[in-house]
Formats: sequence, structure tokens, C-alpha cells
Amino acid sequence: MKKYTAIKDIENLSETIKQAIELKENPFQYEALGKQKTLVMLFFNSSLRTRLSTEKAAKNLGMNVMTLNVGETWDLEFEEGTIMNLKSAEHIKEAAQVISQYADIIAVRAFPSLINREQDELEPIITNFIKYASVPIINMESATAHPLQALADAITIEEFKRSKTPKVVLSWAPHPKKLPHAVANSFVEMMQKRDVDFVITHPPGYELDPRITKNSIIIYNQEEAFQNADFVYTKNWSSYSNYGEILKTDANWMITKEKLGTAKFMHCLPVRRNVVVEDAVLDSEHSIVIKQANNRTFAAQIVLKGILENL
Ligand code: CP
Repeated sequence: MKKYTAIKDIENLSETIKQAIELKENPFQYEALGKQKTLVMLFFNSSLRTRLSTEKAAKNLGMNVMTLNVGETWDLEFEEGTIMNLKSAEHIKEAAQVISQYADIIAVRAFPSLINREQDELEPIITNFIKYASVPIINMESATAHPLQALADAITIEEFKRSKTPKVVLSWAPHPKKLPHAVANSFVEMMQKRDVDFVITHPPGYELDPRITKNSIIIYNQEEAFQNADFVYTKNWSSYSNYGEILKTDANWMITKEKLGTAKFMHCLPVRRNVVVEDAVLDSEHSIVIKQANNRTFAAQIVLKGILENL
């Protein structure tokens, strides 16, 4: 693997998922692979799981890890040919090249503005790191994608499925803040590549980018969508068509024990209790969110291993 900025960077998805599950048996078996190699993690936005699981994954492979909260330094400039007499103190051209001298792999987290759709879709931060860095880049959640999360989700479904082709439902749920589309986008892309019966459900107005959902089935009635579901993957996202807006939301879209039935509950976390999902679900044996979060380590580790083997 040369980089991991999108799911398509994985050549053999089924084999990668299988190897990630095998890694869990002996996480330190490739400890020599990352010796004297350094992962630099750049956070333009905060994180709990991605930060800790990616660091743990790198250390399981024997790597050194350095983390920079970019928000605590100075603003970087991404525009070409700009006159830098305002806020930005350093251009991405220098920053990416300099960091590349300290790192063997650079991982970047950079959320969207949710104000300007065209600008967000250009992915200026991750795209410029790919352009100017001289080492492989990993996407730790960008404006439009969270491929590490999606890989962990696929690993979790593989571990918990009880039939060859389980029914997986991606359900929108209410949230008080406007949230990005990245997790939902990558989950949709991942499910389209897996042997699952996949359905998306959300209120009208919350359609994701049609270039991503393509011909995935969308059902606007949540109860109907949940029928015979094996997995309910829940996530809030803001409107894509009315970009970044919270439309008139319906609290009835919260996931309840009654609605879930016998399905397993999944969420990328963090999750707002009794807004997105009721306590009775999260505190029940149907919730697999903690095990799902544990798989973030092995998703990151199999990606780092693949890149280290290509250095
Ligand atoms: N799911 C996820 O990416 O969690 P963090 O935002 O805590 O990294």
C-alpha cells in the first residue's frame, strides 16, 4: 500500500479484513517492521479514538510516534501564489516538506468547514499534503471521508455477522450540532464493496452525495428500513443539498431498544446518549460500539503495516 487516503487504496479488501482480524491474536508479531520509523500525526481537529488507536497501532509495529495539534501552532496557508500578509504564518509547501524530513508516514485529520461545499470537496488540506509531502499520507478523517473508521466498521461486521449476507442499515439520527458527512460517506462506500444487504434510511432532505450513494437503496421510513436488520449503523450528518444545515429534525429518529429489535447497534463514537440513541440500547448486549472502537487499532495497524512494507 502506498498511502491510505481513501478506501480504494486497499487492493484486496477481504484479505485486508482477514489479516486485521488475525493481527488481534498477536498484535506485536510485526514489531520489527516499524523499528526506526516515525509516524507523525497532525490534528487540525480534536480526536479521542483516532488519535489513541493510531498511536497504539504504530507502537504495536515498533514505530516512533510524534503528534502535533496544528491548531496550537499557527495557521497554514493553502492557496497558491497568495500574498501572506494576513493570519497564516507558513505555507503548506514548506510545512509538508519539512515534516516529511521528520516522518516516514504522515497522518492527517482535517474536518470540513460545512460552509462552502465546493471548497470542502477540494479537500485542500489532505490534497496539499499528498501533493507536497515526500512520504505516504494516511487520512485520519478529512472533509468527505473517514476510511480508517470504515475499515474498522467492516472488520466489526465481519466478526459479528451470523449469515453470509447480513442486512446492514445505515440510519440517520438527530443531533443538536451540524456534523460532517465523512463517516457516513465512507461507510456507504465500504458497504457497497462488501457482501451485505445494504439500506440507507434518513428523513427527506438528508440525502448524502448522490455520487457516493449511487444506486444504494434509500428508504425514508426508518421502521420499514429496520425490518430484519442484522446491524443498525447510526450516524448523524447535516444536510448535503442545503450544505451543512440542520433541517427540521425529528426526535422520533432516535434509536430505541424497541426499534432495534435483535439487530446489533453500531456507531463510530462519540455518541450523544438519549439524543442519537437511548441508554437502553447502548447499555445492552446489542451494542457493539466498544468492540467497534477497539477495531480502530487493528484497522490502523493493518494500514500502517501495508505502507511500511512498501517503504
Ligand atoms: N470515531 C472517531 O473518529 O472518533 P474520534 O473523533 O474520537 O477520533
